[in-house]
Amino acid sequence: MSPETKRILLIIGGGIAAYKCLELIRRAREAGFSVRVVMTKAAAQFVTPLSVGALSNERVFTNLFDLDDEREIGHIRLARDTNLVVVAPATADLMSKMAGGHADDLASAVLLATDKPVLAAPAMNPRMWMHPATRRNHALLQADGIHFVGPESGEMAESGEAGIGRMAEPMTILTAIQSLVGSTQRRRESLPLKGHHILVTSGPTHEPIDPVRYIANRSSGKQGNAIAAAAAKLGARVTLVTGPTSLADPSNVTTVHVETAEQMLTAVRRARDADVAIFAAAVADWRVVNASGQKIKKDGKQDAPSLDLVENPDILKTVAHEKPGARPLLVIGFAAETQNVIEHAKKKRKTKGCDWIVANDVSPRTGIMGGDRNKVHLITADGVDTWPEMDKSEVAHRLLERIVDHLAANTGKA
Ligand code: CTP
Repeated sequence: MSPETKRILLIIGGGIAAYKCLELIRRAREAGFSVRVVMTKAAAQFVTPLSVGALSNERVFTNLFDLDDEREIGHIRLARDTNLVVVAPATADLMSKMAGGHADDLASAVLLATDKPVLAAPAMNPRMWMHPATRRNHALLQADGIHFVGPESGEMAESGEAGIGRMAEPMTILTAIQSLVGSTQRRRESLPLKGHHILVTSGPTHEPIDPVRYIANRSSGKQGNAIAAAAAKLGARVTLVTGPTSLADPSNVTTVHVETAEQMLTAVRRARDADVAIFAAAVADWRVVNASGQKIKKDGKQDAPSLDLVENPDILKTVAHEKPGARPLLVIGFAAETQNVIEHAKKKRKTKGCDWIVANDVSPRTGIMGGDRNKVHLITADGVDTWPEMDKSEVAHRLLERIVDHLAANTGKA
């Protein structure tokens, strides 16, 4: 192995997604990494050590108490003689063992003994991912400095099940690996946003009526989170300010959780050194004046309470109208419309003072709000670019490509 070659220690957990690791090993080796693999006992039920060994071109390690292993390489050396430890699939059980500091098999002992960064790619059934125990373990591991890529949402191996829990695709994991240890080749080109700070807002806002009720909208946060994730993969420092959603925080992104439009504005102001700001949040236009501190009760006379509303601050407009120097170099808004999409969006670009607007039709028949796909028009000073319908992650990548080009042309930095 040349001194330039970076080594990954891949720990394969016992889940159906283990088969994707074969592709990951192949892609990582193509990208110039050497890959050494540890498999849990359960992982061997899904992929064979023989096929893993053939692809990695190295011996596969499975047993903590194999004396030969201990004499030749020992689990401590295995844990440290690497640039990064990757856990994929990180099953609920493996995450729990990591969070608890267990060391009763080779995989968990290596994870406890390592002094290198660890990247985990969780994969499990959506209910297991949302279970309070897994939420707790995920938070503990994040606090311990473990990096995460995924899980993503979508169809599960179990028929009829969908939600968050699908392991990130091999190429997505590889990009996360490269951003943690640096790719062994073409580093500058694969991280074109290194050195840039990108701010993204996403999700709805909740405007309280009383302690138990609020005004909200149907935004899922999927598009904004996909943009934040894509920006991080390209090497940007990313701050995501998100309203309440059911999504997992994207990997390698500083995520700030807020509820109301006013809290979102405060959090956005704290990220004022961003050079690109993308406002994908569906901010509630109004909030209730003097929200009640106690639950509003029925008055017994069947008189419904009336709500006094006041307009929320326009976060996008506020940032877009900052003085040069304080204003991000590129300010991008979204326009959620249900009719005359392009016409309304063009007008919005002017009134809001932003540079670009991403317009989409959010009529219920399109399924865009809350769905996984999007069909957008990118509106800039140069005109309208209509993109075909695609996954929200694809829209995110395409938008980021345009941003990279724009920054390269305007700063010479990207
Ligand atoms: N936006 C914002 N703060 C608000 C309202 C909207 O930052 N208080 C941003 C959104 O994040 C989006 C853009 O403004 O980038 C347009 O949002 P949209 O809901 O389409 O438009 P509105 O400004 O709410 O106008 P209208 O409801 O009249 O269509």
